[in-house]
Amino acid sequence: MKRLYRFVRDKRLLRKLGHLSDIVASPLADMRFRFYHYLMNIFDTIANRYSVRSYLDKKVEPEKLASIFSAVRLAPSARNAQEWRFVIITDPELREKVAQAGGQPFLKECPVIIAACAETDRRIMMSGELAYTVDVAIAIDHLTLAATAMGLGTCWVGSFDPKVVREALDIPEGYPVAALLALGYPSEQKKPAVEKSRLNLHDIVFENGWQKEFKG
Ligand SMILES: Cc1cc2nc3c(=O)[nH]c(=O)nc-3n(C[C@H](O)[C@H](O)[C@H](O)COP(=O)(O)O)c2cc1C
Repeated sequence: MKRLYRFVRDKRLLRKLGHLSDIVASPLADMRFRFYHYLMNIFDTIANRYSVRSYLDKKVEPEKLASIFSAVRLAPSARNAQEWRFVIITDPELREKVAQAGGQPFLKECPVIIAACAETDRRIMMSGELAYTVDVAIAIDHLTLAATAMGLGTCWVGSFDPKVVREALDIPEGYPVAALLALGYPSEQKKPAVEKSRLNLHDIVFENGWQKEFKG
């Protein structure tokens, strides 16, 4: 009886959460995505994220990885080109090799490293900016926020030798490696983003002209 009640309640809950069924890779990932989506709103998630530099020796469940990447694939991209590609590194020997690409000790201890790459024609947008770097960055932000919403930690690593990563993962020339991400369960709680030093809103947001005061 209890199980039946839970089933009916979950069905109702899912209906309330809208029609997301075509956005995720598997029914299980779909369920989890909806569940976590329900638990934490986007502002909580943004406020709680921080760069985690110390990890528990605990495996990240494959379903959680699937849910994270279900969120990643929804990121916007220039011309919807979706040039991002990701290599998830869970094999301990490979992790060790990739960790050598950067000087960060936490890369050696996190259970998952993600290499954020691109399959790109290096198109320059009319704005003069390279499209793939912007697109990959947005996708990574989706990744870090989805991970936070599931109680996982991440740290973006930009300081690494791409040659070492390329060699370890057999990534051919011409496919840029834009970033490494550490991913896993945090071993200690540090200050979340909301408590960290950030520029003042009025120093970064202007209204109706450069450096004109934002009245918000
Ligand atoms: C493009 C980029 C590159 C970064 N590279 C590194 C890095 O190589 N090593 C590191 O420990 N943190 C790195 N970080 C994390 C930043 O230091 C961190 O986001 C910043 O200090 C703000 O702290 P928070 O993420 O905890 O809010 C990087 C972040 C970004 C966005």
